[in-house]
Amino acid sequence: MPTHDEILKSLEAVIDPELRKSIVELGMVRSIDTRDDGAVDVTVSLTTAGCPIRSHFQDAVVKAVGALPGVTKVGVAFDVLSDQEKGALQKKLGRGSLPEGALAQVSNVVCIGSGKGGVGKSTITANLAAALAAEGKKVGVLDADVWGYSIPRMFGVQGRPPVSPERKILPLESGGVKIMSIGFFVEEDAAVVWRGPMLHKALTQFLEDVDWGELDFLLVDLPPGTGDVSMTLAQLLPQAKFIIVTTPQATAQKVARRSAEMAAKVDLEIGGVIENMAGFVTPGGERYAIFGEGGGKDLADELDVPLLGKVPLTMPLREQSDAGEPLVFADPDDPAAQAIRQAARGLVAIFPVELPVFQAVAATPAAGVAEAPKPVGMSLPMA
Ligand SMILES: Nc1ncnc2c1ncn2[C@@H]1O[C@H](COP(=O)(O)OP(=O)(O)OP(=O)(O)O)[C@@H](O)[C@H]1O
Ligand SMILES: [Mg+2]
Repeated sequence: MPTHDEILKSLEAVIDPELRKSIVELGMVRSIDTRDDGAVDVTVSLTTAGCPIRSHFQDAVVKAVGALPGVTKVGVAFDVLSDQEKGALQKKLGRGSLPEGALAQVSNVVCIGSGKGGVGKSTITANLAAALAAEGKKVGVLDADVWGYSIPRMFGVQGRPPVSPERKILPLESGGVKIMSIGFFVEEDAAVVWRGPMLHKALTQFLEDVDWGELDFLLVDLPPGTGDVSMTLAQLLPQAKFIIVTTPQATAQKVARRSAEMAAKVDLEIGGVIENMAGFVTPGGERYAIFGEGGGKDLADELDVPLLGKVPLTMPLREQSDAGEPLVFADPDDPAAQAIRQAARGLVAIFPVELPVFQAVAATPAAGVAEAPKPVGMSLPMA
């Protein structure tokens, strides 16, 4: 059985991805308890209760401690640093504020990207947001396409966002979805020239200075390609999941694979693939595979992630985007709207709800032994 110090030493491998230091160095290991049967319980103190990187810590602690000889089970629990402790940590880090900023109450961040332009990222993002909102989720959309922003038009919102007394920018709202876009700040059709540092600053502001409030999902509409914006966001949002939109033909899939490679390089987890423009059905019921078949499935298989949906080409999907109300709101039964609603449910499923309880996970299983299934479901409310 490892000693307290040995366990603490192993926890040096658990790095806070935002502060880029180990939880031991940051003083975030609240307690370590060992039992005779080899079970170890570790409590980690977070900077905020709704810390979005909680599951990162959970997995990393289980991995680090579970690898020690003699450990049979690792339980991970969380609490929150007191204000005094936070102050001490702030001092130690020598920075004015912890990155608990405006995203502290955002549970999940999803970036929607593709290798190339015009595959329907923004259309899918807007409609996924509408679908999640229709299911009762609190949703925000950040239009990170600073050159070709289209989210304001798709939601029919314009105007300058107000600033709160706390000097935070308040997102505009449409259909219950909170929206932020560079389009709210520049003259229509003005060409915006962004240089590296400015771009970084603008994106940082969108994440830190916007009062997103409590959100279940923040969807980020990326510009086409794998350029600066995606890299900057990956740095700022290490806990985000990446959804790739592709069209069905093999060449598009090749391009989409590039964005998957980019995501892997910057260590963003790929959550799934959505195939868009997957065939067209005539009013007579005849189906034409205008952009080919099967690209989404092939890419999803290759990346070993779920294919969250196949969204057909429909005229109303485009018309509604141009009219400023996502199709999912206007006609939820349209085949494209149905496919996007299904994809939204898939998205919810890949972000499991985390419970603030000890979750015992078996330590590294012996070779040849199947890993014990993780506990699922809700704990019962006890009186
Ligand atoms: N399934 C679909 N059926 C019909 N029209 C679609 C579909 N998906 C997207 N469109 C239309 O295709 C055009 C491009 O879509 P969109 O702007 O969403 O693509 P994008 O990938 O965000 O483009 P960009 O790379 O320029 O940001 C839009 O006019 C949109 O309305
Ligand atoms: Mg777009």
